Amino acid sequence: MNKLDKLALKYNSDKYGEHFYTKIYEKFMSKKKNENINLFEIGIGGYVQGKDYSDPYKGGESLKMWRDYFKKGTICGLDIYEKKLVLGSRVNIYKGSQTDPKILNKIIKEQKKFDYIIDDGSHINKDVIFTFEYMFKSLKEGGYYFVEDTLTSYLRDYGGEGAYLKKNNTIINYFKNIVDKINYKEIENPYYKNDYFSKNITEIHFYHNLIVIKKNKNLEKSFLVINNKKKLKNSKNKKRREIKQKIKYFLFNLKAKIYELVDLIKI
Ligand SMILES: C[S@@+](CC[C@H](N)C(=O)[O-])C[C@H]1O[C@@H](n2cnc3c(N)ncnc32)[C@H](O)[C@@H]1O
Repeated sequence: MNKLDKLALKYNSDKYGEHFYTKIYEKFMSKKKNENINLFEIGIGGYVQGKDYSDPYKGGESLKMWRDYFKKGTICGLDIYEKKLVLGSRVNIYKGSQTDPKILNKIIKEQKKFDYIIDDGSHINKDVIFTFEYMFKSLKEGGYYFVEDTLTSYLRDYGGEGAYLKKNNTIINYFKNIVDKINYKEIENPYYKNDYFSKNITEIHFYHNLIVIKKNKNLEKSFLVINNKKKLKNSKNKKRREIKQKIKYFLFNLKAKIYELVDLIKI
C-alpha cells in the first residue's frame, strides 16, 4: 500500500477501495510530494446515505488526503453546495458550479496556476468537457489534469451513451480526439485546424474510469510532414507536383466533409 492509499483509507475517500485511483495518482504526483504545489479539486463530497451532498459540515475526504500528502502544498476545492469545513490554512474552499465561468475566474484570479487539477464533480459529460476547456489554460507547464469516474460516458442519465459508442462529445470520445491533437504535426491535411490543446498537450493516459492529461509544449516536429503537407523532394517537376498535391488535398478535404455529413445524418 502506498502513502496515498493509506491516506484515502484514513479519511474515507473512495479514491482507494471503491476505486483504485490513488495508485495512479501516486505515479504522477510522488515526484512533487515535498514541493510547494498548487492543487485544485472539483467536488468536495460528504454524501449522506439516501440523501445528497448538501450537508455543509460533511465532506473534504480527498481534500484532507491531498493536504497531508503535499505537506507544503496549497489545496483548493470547489463544490456546488456550501461547505463549512475547517481543514487548515492551506486548504481553500469555494462554492459554485464547475460550469460557472464567474466562480472559475475568481478561483483562477485568487489561486493562479495549478500543478494538478482533478475533476470529481458532477460527472455530467458536457460539464466535464466544459470545465476541461475552461481550466486547462490554468494548468502549469508540466502539470496534470485528471478526470475521474469516466464511466458516465456510457450512462444516458449523465449525457453519455452505452448503445452507440461513437457518439460525439461523450467524455471518452472527446478525450480520444486529443490523441489526434497530440499528433497534429503528422496529419497530412493542410485544412486541419490545430488549437491551444494541440500545442500544449504531450501525453494522455486512459485507465479504468480515469483519464490523465499532461500539459507541456508539444513541439516535436514530423520527419515526413511540414505544415500538414507531405514533404516533396526537390526535383525539376516540383512546381507541378505541388499543384497536383494541392488539388489532391482539396479533394480529400471535400470527401472528409461528405463523410462528416453522412455521420451527422446517421445520428
Ligand atoms: C463524488 S463527490 C466528490 C468526492 C471527493 N472528491 C472525494 O474524493 O472525497 C462529487 C461532488 O461533486 C459535487 N458537485 C456536483 N455537481 C457539481 C457541479 N456542477 N459543480 C461543482 N461541484 C459539483 C457534489 O456536490 C459532490 O460533493
